[in-house]
Amino acid sequence: MSNAAPALTHLAPMATRASRLAAARTDYAASESIKAEVRDLNFFYGQRQALKNVNLPIPERTVTALIGPSGCGKSTLLRCFNRMHDLYPGNRYEGEIVLQPSGLNILSPQVDPMEMRLRTGMVFQKPNPFPKSIFDNVAYGLRLRFVRQRSILQERVEKALRAAALWDEVKDRLHHSAVKLSGGQQQRLCVARALATDPEILLLDEPTSALDPIATSKIEDMIFALKEEVTILIVTHNMEQAARVADFTGFMYLGALVEHGATSQIFQTPKNQLTEKYLTGSFG
Ligand SMILES: Nc1ncnc2c1ncn2[C@@H]1O[C@H](COP(=O)(O)OP(=O)(O)OP(=O)(O)O)[C@@H](O)[C@H]1O
Ligand SMILES: [Mg+2]
Repeated sequence: MSNAAPALTHLAPMATRASRLAAARTDYAASESIKAEVRDLNFFYGQRQALKNVNLPIPERTVTALIGPSGCGKSTLLRCFNRMHDLYPGNRYEGEIVLQPSGLNILSPQVDPMEMRLRTGMVFQKPNPFPKSIFDNVAYGLRLRFVRQRSILQERVEKALRAAALWDEVKDRLHHSAVKLSGGQQQRLCVARALATDPEILLLDEPTSALDPIATSKIEDMIFALKEEVTILIVTHNMEQAARVADFTGFMYLGALVEHGATSQIFQTPKNQLTEKYLTGSFG
């Protein structure tokens, strides 16, 4: 693709920043171990196939972004990781998502979807705190796991709120209603709620699309700090955000994963013409 470089120069500064931020986590084959692996995944909403033979490695303690036009299957793929699709009849998976090091296939009928939702925490586009206190929101998953001792709950709630970069803003009002927080605070609370059960993977579906630039940058800083602890899979329509926060990026189109690789490679030298067209805005 000889004309790729000039066409994508407007993205180069972002990719450079991403490379700096992503601190050399750019090679699947290098040091990282793989936290999860999507293998030959097909997904059907009834008769309608929404994912087509997706194969994707997710390196441990990195951020992987999923990008692609509306309706291409990004959220559908994310929801496979925590078995959200099991909540609706007629949905069907084929293939595997294997968690490492256990080798557990998330999609196995023997795996309890409820347990999977605690092990792969998900945060949605629109913040959805429960109409309970800040404390009770974060403690929710712990209580589902029968953690009852007050001191342990307090310790775990504080740890999750600190990890979500919200502790300082709420530590004096933990028993106030969560729905009175600002949108950006509510979203970080949802991240804290997802983190409280020590998930193996954190799934973020357009977590900043409803937020202003300041709240967005707080979430991005938080994502950057969190990847030291947890493997993150994020869906975003914001290409600058993908370039800023993601070590790896996958481009999806019509239910297929067209291309995936180091974010700098995808943005600067995409191998597939569809990826290039999408990134340069000359799609369709
Ligand atoms: N509950 C559902 N039942 C049937 N089809 C669905 C359902 N949810 C999504 N789809 C279809 O599956 C395809 C993928 O949808 P999905 O929500 O995964 O796309 P997306 O890439 O997340 O899009 P967006 O960027 O708009 O959020 C679309 O064609 C959509 O219409
Ligand atoms: Mg979506």
